Amino acid sequence: MEESSKTLGEFIIENQKAFQYSSGELSRIINSIRLAAKVVSYKVNKAGLVDITGAAGETNIQGEDQQKLDVYANEIFIQTLKNREIVCGIASEENDEFITVEGKDKGHKNKYVVLMDPLDGSSNIDVNVSVGTVFSVYRRITPVGTPVTLEDFLQPGTMQVAAGYVIYGTSTMLVYTTGHGVNGFTLNPAIGTFYLSHPDMKFSKDGNIYSINEGNYIQFPQGVKDYIKYCQSEEGDRPYTSRYIGSLVSDIHRNMIKGGIYIYPTSSKAPKGKLRLLYECNPMAFIAEQAGGKASDGFGRIMEIKPKELHERVPFFCGSYNMVAKAEEFMLKASK
Ligand code: AHG
Ligand code: MN
Ligand code: MN
Repeated sequence: MEESSKTLGEFIIENQKAFQYSSGELSRIINSIRLAAKVVSYKVNKAGLVDITGAAGETNIQGEDQQKLDVYANEIFIQTLKNREIVCGIASEENDEFITVEGKDKGHKNKYVVLMDPLDGSSNIDVNVSVGTVFSVYRRITPVGTPVTLEDFLQPGTMQVAAGYVIYGTSTMLVYTTGHGVNGFTLNPAIGTFYLSHPDMKFSKDGNIYSINEGNYIQFPQGVKDYIKYCQSEEGDRPYTSRYIGSLVSDIHRNMIKGGIYIYPTSSKAPKGKLRLLYECNPMAFIAEQAGGKASDGFGRIMEIKPKELHERVPFFCGSYNMVAKAEEFMLKASK
């Protein structure tokens, strides 16, 4: 197949002109993410060997192998972006504050900021289950040539110029959008090259998978409880099936391929929800919308929320368009 022989590198070059501001800067950001993803992928695949190599005395002097994978992934993505001086700022789920990238001459000459969840689904590392990385790119608001400010990071998701995720699964994939659809690339680990394996990815309008941590059922808002019961009822062509990995990237990736909805609602224990608006929900919402799906906080569009703080949490309903719309109906009905 023609598609399968196209590499991510070739794809980036071919599509550069389609980017909103085609100076090549955004292409270089995607290139850096591609590189960091390969490094993290290699490390994730070795995760189960840490104790064995340690016992054999093969751990390096820095004790690098003992480092937690989420800290490692954070450092790799930050260093890769920083070293290339292609962004003016980075914000990460793992860091309390955003990072200012000055450039050698303290020129602050770059236009873009990157926000990321470097390792998503971290509780799955120890059990050999897929984890991921999520990223989001914005054009800065403040003038080029000055240090970035919080304002550059607190933009609504509608302002994203690119977003995507890496899934470290049975294969490693990089899936991203620059606002012209969603494309997925699979890593051939033998030669370290990503190939276009999933061109123009789409959520089906309807699906039959619902993904939610039902262990929290008692704490959920009434609208979510009602929606779950609707999914389980035998009317129409239901019942649906339930799948929940506990790693947002993996759950959304599966649902995009098979059709489904992912929900992380508010609960009595987490009144604002758990997922982070800037590092998880906005990039996944951009992907979902570009793939014909829908992303909501239960009542309105995720990408229109004006963020107030870096680590803000929101409830998240994301996936096949009609399923999310149906869940919103239940939320609205229960709130009246
Ligand atoms: P992270 O590992 O980055 O902290 O994110 C974990 C998130 C998300 O990936 C997942 O869907 C959700 O937490 C699972 O939470 P529960 O264990 O509460 O279901
Ligand atoms: Mn996460
Ligand atoms: Mn994380």
